[in-house]
Amino acid sequence: MSISQIARSISESATLKLNETAAQLRQKGEPVIHLGGGEPKSRAPLDALVAAASKVNSGEVRYTPADGIPALKQAIIRYTDEYYGHRIEPEQVMASGGAKQAIIVALQAILNPQEEVIFPTPYWVSYPEMTKLCGGVPVPVLAEDGSFCPRLADIEAKVGAYTKAIIINSPSNPTGAMYSAEFIAAIVEFCEQRSLYLIMDDIYHRLIFDGRKPISCYQYAKDLGESSKLIVINGVSKQYAMTGFRIGWAVANKKLIEAMTNIQSHQSSGPSVVLQAAAVAALDGVQSSVENLRLTLENNRNVMVDQLRAFEGVKLTPPDGTFYCFPDFSAYDRDSTRLSRFLLEKVRVVTVPGVEFGMEGHLRLSTCGTIKDITEGVERMKWALDPNSPNELYIGDRKLVRDWS
Ligand SMILES: Cc1ncc(COP(=O)(O)O)c(C=O)c1O
Repeated sequence: MSISQIARSISESATLKLNETAAQLRQKGEPVIHLGGGEPKSRAPLDALVAAASKVNSGEVRYTPADGIPALKQAIIRYTDEYYGHRIEPEQVMASGGAKQAIIVALQAILNPQEEVIFPTPYWVSYPEMTKLCGGVPVPVLAEDGSFCPRLADIEAKVGAYTKAIIINSPSNPTGAMYSAEFIAAIVEFCEQRSLYLIMDDIYHRLIFDGRKPISCYQYAKDLGESSKLIVINGVSKQYAMTGFRIGWAVANKKLIEAMTNIQSHQSSGPSVVLQAAAVAALDGVQSSVENLRLTLENNRNVMVDQLRAFEGVKLTPPDGTFYCFPDFSAYDRDSTRLSRFLLEKVRVVTVPGVEFGMEGHLRLSTCGTIKDITEGVERMKWALDPNSPNELYIGDRKLVRDWS
């Protein structure tokens, strides 16, 4: 069997692999605490569940236009108006099988072989792999001051003749850091001046804390017409807790959306009509579930930050949003893969190694679980890592004994 060069250059999704490992261990009855997850535990909005069920019951489950049903496009137009203050037309919208598909189809539509895509480090695991899948070259940018948000100058230093696009994810997976309005204004202006595509991955844009308000990149754009190179990505997975529904979307200029729709029509023919109906209901229905989720996550974030601050040797920049934090454990082990494996083996806590996001010495911890998951998970980690810990730890009625030093 011969596998293509591109396929060989793509690595497995570390986060999905960890989910599998955790599920296998749980099946064996192991007391696993999953701090690696990237999905809220709350139920999808009732409106969405009812809409999906009634679509199935109607029996009218057929192909749809490849860019999405008109009702979903209308719901996305309303959403963009309400949360971005920007009025768009149906031809500027493409619904997709999750934000993931919207991003990769956008990259397929804009990249020629060897063209470069810049994104800040640490980055979402899929940006480099998606770029490679589309024949492009990923160019991660590390902030010179070591912070989680590179400055425009750091990004500008990486822009060259082959640069085609910049991806900004704010607030960010894995750090939870949100870029300032000044930075968003500057990057929008910079991309317009240099004629670069700017992909704003806004999948977490309403899941932000401490009174922050979502930032609309459109307010800083001078060109919102047909030559605009702004691509805004969003979806229902995170804020509506609808990860399994696989609905996301892209908003861009009409020509680009037409090209993306052509691509998607040959890839998947567009997302399932059942799931599109559920997304319409979520977007148009009662919005309290989003605020409830946001409040829960803010509370969980506070608990996680308190726990980690009491963890000697661990450095943390508190997250501004999302359901992740990205503490620095390099005082214990700079090799984040080894550290993550150690924590899973010894105390059954799932974490994601920072190296998967391009930054060694860190672990991504999720705050999606319960308060008990967070407190017990961090307690177990402390016990495993602190050489002064007592010799024994009970997990339920199971006794763990330190057999390492
Ligand atoms: C930054 C970022 N963008 C996009 C996605 C994909 O979202 P979806 O489930 O809608 O494909 C994720 C999911 O983890 C993410 O973290």
